[in-house]
Amino acid sequence: MSSTAVIGLQWGDEAKGKIVDLLSPRHDIVVRYLGGNNAGHTVVCNGETYKLSLLPSGILHEGQISVIASGVVIDPKAFFAELDALTARGIAVDSRLLISDRAHLIFPHHQLEESILEASLKDDAIGTTMRGIGPCYRDKAGRTHAIRMGDLLRADFFRKRLQDVIAYKNRLLVGLNPDFEGLDFEAIYKEYCTYAERFQPYVTNTTAYLHDALDDGKRIIFEGAQGSMLDVDHGTFPYVTSSNSSGCGIHAGSGVPEKYISKMIGVVKSYSTRVGGGPFPTELDDETGQLIRDTGKEYGTVTGRPRRCRWFDAVAVHYTARLSGVDCIAVTLLDVLSVLDDIQVCEAYEIDGERTTHFPSHVEDLLRVKPVYRTLPGWKTDISQIKNYADLPENAKRYIATISELVGSPVELVSVGPDREQTIIDCQ
Ligand code: GDP
Ligand code: IMO
Ligand code: MG
Repeated sequence: MSSTAVIGLQWGDEAKGKIVDLLSPRHDIVVRYLGGNNAGHTVVCNGETYKLSLLPSGILHEGQISVIASGVVIDPKAFFAELDALTARGIAVDSRLLISDRAHLIFPHHQLEESILEASLKDDAIGTTMRGIGPCYRDKAGRTHAIRMGDLLRADFFRKRLQDVIAYKNRLLVGLNPDFEGLDFEAIYKEYCTYAERFQPYVTNTTAYLHDALDDGKRIIFEGAQGSMLDVDHGTFPYVTSSNSSGCGIHAGSGVPEKYISKMIGVVKSYSTRVGGGPFPTELDDETGQLIRDTGKEYGTVTGRPRRCRWFDAVAVHYTARLSGVDCIAVTLLDVLSVLDDIQVCEAYEIDGERTTHFPSHVEDLLRVKPVYRTLPGWKTDISQIKNYADLPENAKRYIATISELVGSPVELVSVGPDREQTIIDCQ
């Protein structure tokens, strides 16, 4: 039993893709189990940069199987664009990719619904990636107007189902926007039939495949998407995504019981970022925030939006580390902090004069949070080529030890640059 899970403990973009890529060679199968093309995972290896959205990062490793499991929502157009771009770069995907017949599909009406809803919310908009993720998950939970991969591959079933769905969605969309001309059923049907043909060789019952693989002693790595603070049940609701992006979602999204996961790794940036709306207690809306944004190249992989930057929030990460029962944490982008004289860590919150280390569950309480900081000295040295923990400057070690202490988890991995090679593995 040596399967591993890699999940983000903040608001996404913690460098999960890099960590999964790094650990992939020790595993046989990489599984994406939630989200869709709202995710953007950057992997830098051998001087090449790959930006993956739907395909698991394991696809970059020859001989490794990649699985898109039942909890993922798939936009076929985006999926094939990504697949074709990888193939054009010489990555042979064919027999190494499996897609769940239970995965739900994104359709044009999902993006249309999302853009109307987000626009109507004005300043209170969630700030979604506009990929139709939320409406697709909503239809999944609602059941009556959802279409799964397995439906798409049954021609007659699909035609009938799509007809009903488009008729309903046209009534809905015209109700929301009287100028809307309506979706063209025949055009969508035709387009999705061409996708069906292309999907066919990859689609299978991935749950059964993973169960058999585990019986055969195969090692799986579960690649998280989004971050735990974006979890629909446990995150900063409603400014979250529509799935369980904490460790809580692994079992539901893949069909693999938790008992098979021998190591749960929580990935954290050495500071905090988020894209989209919602309160963000230690936000640095100033020169320091801009310095971190520029040094860390903090612009969204999917939408190009500037990421909101702030100090490391140990209250939030302590909460998410417990939520998923992480065994250890991987601290990434530590090199970015090398430009700073002093570094702050939020060790507690003050709400209405009361100090707490519990993360509040209501967004209004989060808005009233006053962060309590611990200030640590910076190291002002380039650490991006350091390979051994012992060679890090003392102040960098102190910073890592502080994060570890406040989060309550050992640090087993430190990343000091985007490349696979820029990683310190043994952090004792
Ligand atoms: P993910 O969504 O969690 O996989 O993270 P993203 O790929 O969206 O964002 C992480 C960004 O940081 C990417 O551009 C990575 O190439 C980059 N990155 C990863 N690790 C490091 C690091 O240790 N230092 C620096 N400077 N950049 C890193
Ligand atoms: P990775 O896997 C960062 C954010 C969006 C928005 C909220 C809801 O790269 O870490 P959605 O389109 O999911 O309905 O948007 O969630 N979001 C992410 N932020 N990284 C991601 O993925 C994200 N996926 C969704 O910006 O605030
Ligand atoms: Mg990302």
